[in-house]
Amino acid sequence: MTTIPRTGAVTPGPVLSARGLVKDWDVRVLHGIDLDVPAGQLLAIMGPSGSGKSTLLSLLAGMDVPTSGCVELGGQELSSMSERQLADLRLHRIGFVFQTTRFVRTLDLADNIALPALVARVDSPAQVRQRARELMERMGVAEVSHHHVTEVSGGQLQRAALCRALINDPDVLFGDEPTGALDSASAARVLDLLAGVVAEGRTLVLVTHDAAVAARADRVLVLVDGSVAEDLALGRDDGEDRAGRLEQVRRVLTRHGV
Ligand SMILES: Nc1ncnc2c1ncn2[C@@H]1O[C@H](COP(=O)(O)OP(=O)(O)OP(=O)(O)O)[C@@H](O)[C@H]1O
Ligand SMILES: [Mg+2]
Repeated sequence: MTTIPRTGAVTPGPVLSARGLVKDWDVRVLHGIDLDVPAGQLLAIMGPSGSGKSTLLSLLAGMDVPTSGCVELGGQELSSMSERQLADLRLHRIGFVFQTTRFVRTLDLADNIALPALVARVDSPAQVRQRARELMERMGVAEVSHHHVTEVSGGQLQRAALCRALINDPDVLFGDEPTGALDSASAARVLDLLAGVVAEGRTLVLVTHDAAVAARADRVLVLVDGSVAEDLALGRDDGEDRAGRLEQVRRVLTRHGV
């Protein structure tokens, strides 16, 4: 199994890097993206609808294959890995929260959250269920753990999706608008939780349309028409200057017409 170093470990290079990443659908959607993400960084990716954010995220997470260019995760080039190794990497080392949450409709929330860990078979089912319970408490969805996915709110579903993404203790967590279905108070709460996840040394790559979400990141990448238009270093958010950080993000977005 591939091991991705966390912060504090001896990390020779970035935990995640992309070189010359190109993706063609009917037309070219990504025009050669270069990116290095150090371990423990909270990176936000912003940009207009259709600028290629979700496409980039799925390439970085090894869920889709680039037309050309390469992605390295934990020092291993994804294109050199077999389907089985990739599946293993996704299951054990990566967490992913999708733009539209995908749950098994016939299972309740708790079972949906536990599922990836039951599949991974690293721990006993009892340990998995205990960890799922702890995560649900942390994310504030424990009270609906036995509800089916059709019986909870969009915000609860999104928080449950975060629990599921964290169940296998991933080193790198990818989120595609993980706060998109939330009101600003719930979004702020989820962000506090995500900041905690980063403080544990995990790397977080987050696509968001919300400047207030991006303002809490260490770094904001602005994608316009499939190219990096801006790479803004904000540094770690200590909660002291949220207004100033938000102002910086807004200024950059305005400059690029977002
Ligand atoms: N599977 C696909 N087949 C064909 N075209 C696609 C596919 N996925 C994405 N595209 C196209 O690629 C472009 C970028 O899409 P992408 O989903 O990456 O944008 P985005 O920045 O995430 O947008 P949004 O903010 O609306 O989620 C769009 O023009 C889209 O239509
Ligand atoms: Mg998208």
